[in-house]
Amino acid sequence: MTETPVSAIGSPPPLLQTRGLTRVFHSRAGLFAKQRTLTAVSQVDLDIPRGRVTGVVGESGCGKSTLARLVLRLLDASSGSVHFDGNDLAGLSSSGLRALRRRMQMVFQDPYSSIDPRYSVHEAVLEPLRIQGLALDEAAKRSKVESLMAMVGLNPVLADSYPHQLSGGQKQRVGIARALALQPEFLVLDEPTASLDVSIQAQIIALLEQLQADLGLTYLFISHDLGLVRYFCHRIVVMYLGRVVEILPDPTAAPRHPYTRALMESTFEPDPQRRRTVTLLHGEIADAFNLPAGCAYAARCPHASQRCRSERPELSQPAGADQGHSLACHHPLGS
Ligand SMILES: Nc1ncnc2c1ncn2[C@@H]1O[C@H](COP(=O)(O)OP(=O)(O)OP(=O)(O)O)[C@@H](O)[C@H]1O
Ligand code: SF4
Ligand SMILES: [Mg+2]
Repeated sequence: MTETPVSAIGSPPPLLQTRGLTRVFHSRAGLFAKQRTLTAVSQVDLDIPRGRVTGVVGESGCGKSTLARLVLRLLDASSGSVHFDGNDLAGLSSSGLRALRRRMQMVFQDPYSSIDPRYSVHEAVLEPLRIQGLALDEAAKRSKVESLMAMVGLNPVLADSYPHQLSGGQKQRVGIARALALQPEFLVLDEPTASLDVSIQAQIIALLEQLQADLGLTYLFISHDLGLVRYFCHRIVVMYLGRVVEILPDPTAAPRHPYTRALMESTFEPDPQRRRTVTLLHGEIADAFNLPAGCAYAARCPHASQRCRSERPELSQPAGADQGHSLACHHPLGS
């Protein structure tokens, strides 16, 4: 364990803090191909406040799931740090990490991707306790499963069902019950509704909202849908090709980064049939294996200048921006 992260005087320290968090992947070298490197997450500094919902949004491949796995140390960082409640995750022993894992859990897009399909709901929900070595007798197991199922709105008669007998929404409720089994404080939700129908999506979001408020949970909520993130989250982190390009301190703040603006224009309309995609689809997304020297968004950005193509913009708070609003852009848009 190392030092407690520094926070602004008067405000409680964030539950989770990353500094310079970076993860590099290497492509396999072949007989004729050179090994190439891709920085999936690059120099990410994040403060995740307690009891709040922090959203991470960006297009496919921008590094959201890699960031999710790094903050839970399901994946090791190439460089940089993650502190959870003052504990440096990289400095923990395996038993220290296992103890901390009780306090931080993940909900996946496809909950049964990480659960043995031969497990019934009862077994799936109890698995985290088994992994932690917590022994319960049969009666205590039954009552634990019943209370978790009630918490996520699942009929207890489903306890002996198997995944193929459940709907998508029911499976996701099992995933949430499982994540809550160890009474964690922090949940990382990686696109938990992306594979569900719109009406089921709304029910799961309502459940997550209720649980967050009732249990005082801290969420890191990942989505490619800025409309959903603006509805659900207290703070919004926008990523583009591995980097944070804008942090909105509240969901009503006007985006000042051209990418966030384009994302907003393409996702603002809740009805997917009527969404405008005009702005976003200009230009090709840069090759993640071969990023340009300057701003990675320059090839798609209508405001790109010569400076943008040669000098990478750093994340900072521009003049006139609200406290906590930062962006990485040489030519911030007016608010
Ligand atoms: N294990 C891995 N080995 C090599 N490259 C990887 C690995 N995991 C992720 N990547 C690459 O890292 C980049 C970021 O991937 P990641 O899955 O984090 O993106 P994402 O934002 O979650 O995308 P999506 O919205 O499609 O889920 C992508 O280019 C991806 O191909
Ligand atoms: S730095 Fe330049 S290219 Fe990048 S988003 Fe800002 S204006 Fe566009
Ligand atoms: Mg992902």
